[in-house]
Amino acid sequence: MYRVGIVGYGTVGSGVAELLIKNKDVIKEKTGIDISLNAVLDKDWTRERPFNIDDNLRANSFEDLLDKSDIVVELIGGVNIAKDIIEKAMENKKHVVSANKHLLALHGKELIEKAYKYGVGFEFEASVGGGIPIIKALKEGLVANRINYIHGILNGTTNYILTRMLDDGMDFDIALKEAQSLGYAEQDPTFDIEGIDAAHKITILASIAYGGHINFKDVYIEGISNINLLDVELGRELGYTIKLLAVAKSTNNELEVRVHPAFIKSQEQMSKVSGVYNAILIDGDFVGKTLLYGKGAGSKPTASAVVSDIVDIAKHSGRSFLAFNKSLKINKNFYTRYYIRFEVEDKIGVLASITNVFAKYGISIASVLQKEMVCKVAKKENSLIVPLVILTHKAYELDVSKAIEEIKNLSVVKEKPVLIRLEEE
Ligand SMILES: NC(=O)c1ccc[n+]([C@@H]2O[C@H](COP(=O)([O-])OP(=O)(O)OC[C@H]3O[C@@H](n4cnc5c(N)ncnc54)[C@H](OP(=O)(O)O)[C@@H]3O)[C@@H](O)[C@H]2O)c1
Repeated sequence: MYRVGIVGYGTVGSGVAELLIKNKDVIKEKTGIDISLNAVLDKDWTRERPFNIDDNLRANSFEDLLDKSDIVVELIGGVNIAKDIIEKAMENKKHVVSANKHLLALHGKELIEKAYKYGVGFEFEASVGGGIPIIKALKEGLVANRINYIHGILNGTTNYILTRMLDDGMDFDIALKEAQSLGYAEQDPTFDIEGIDAAHKITILASIAYGGHINFKDVYIEGISNINLLDVELGRELGYTIKLLAVAKSTNNELEVRVHPAFIKSQEQMSKVSGVYNAILIDGDFVGKTLLYGKGAGSKPTASAVVSDIVDIAKHSGRSFLAFNKSLKINKNFYTRYYIRFEVEDKIGVLASITNVFAKYGISIASVLQKEMVCKVAKKENSLIVPLVILTHKAYELDVSKAIEEIKNLSVVKEKPVLIRLEEE
């Protein structure tokens, strides 16, 4: 018999309570273990909840909840107080489950070490991919593989916005407002649209897949707030779909860990992941490619992952599998393909002047698209400004940055070039 205490009775907390109460018998039948919700703590009980619990389950204080629990489930979010709660629970020999990606990405190593020190379990399946059992897949089913790369669509809000832009020609700002009105985006959407939420998640996945600690500050993060419809449409014309992609990739004993908008070939399965869904593609040396797909957020899917952790702890008496002890070296000179759009004067020799710079830096061009479409008329030169798109073969990020810096200064180039990486399976 395991007693569970939930701290934070919000979206996920109420889903976890509902699942533990409604499916208690299902869990007992499948595992033989009795898991019982015994205490819930929240700051404010006046608010309406989607699922109501008996008043006698409400804890009076954190100490009261600790007394009544074997497994403490932290579901308040944020960093400082949540970390405090988890550490106090561990010090009191309580197992801990959390869904807190922000906290895990910053302090995962410290908390895992603390769990080892106090001999308690610490699980956090719901911190990545909501209901998708991705962490268990990496640390159990795929544990024997060297992971070549992970590609993730890990943030439903941005995927919803990009899907609306792509399918319905909606501008970014309008799609964001719609996502907010539907409850898919927070009133302050910064963490989602600037890629920070996805970066927290890929940091956790890369730490597990590559068995070490990643300094979150080393993760490259670029969001979708500067994506405009023209690039979404030009990309589609070239056979690509835009996504906010989280990438972890092993190259020569170093790791690339990055989040940025990326074009994916429209026939690849990842490009078809639309709306608020999440997907994670893992390429392992023995298993090959494996794709996991599902609801990346929401009360019930997330509760499903949290309760699977509770059951796991109960089944294994809290023994954790993870070791985050070695420090992983991060490589920032990515090696990938690029879509680069310039706004150039429509006159003879422009293409040659740009391709010469690419050649100088050893960047090979895969295709060029120049549209008979006027962006604007440059008043001074009285000439037409048109978009020119170049797709490169694989190249090093540093070489591409240098080439773009040089091309930006050519007199025929009128605006800051747009760069979107292309990722291939
Ligand atoms: N929502 C999802 O779909 C989802 C998916 C995956 C992971 N997660 C993660 O799950 C965690 C919880 O998210 P959520 O969406 O459930 O958040 P939420 O709806 O805001 O719920 C958090 C609850 O905790 C309460 N709380 C805050 N500080 C507290 C404290 N010191 N003591 C007791 N209660 C406190 C809050 O009360 P007040 O509202 O009064 O502050 C609120 O009721 C976060 O780490 C989040 O990143 C969420």
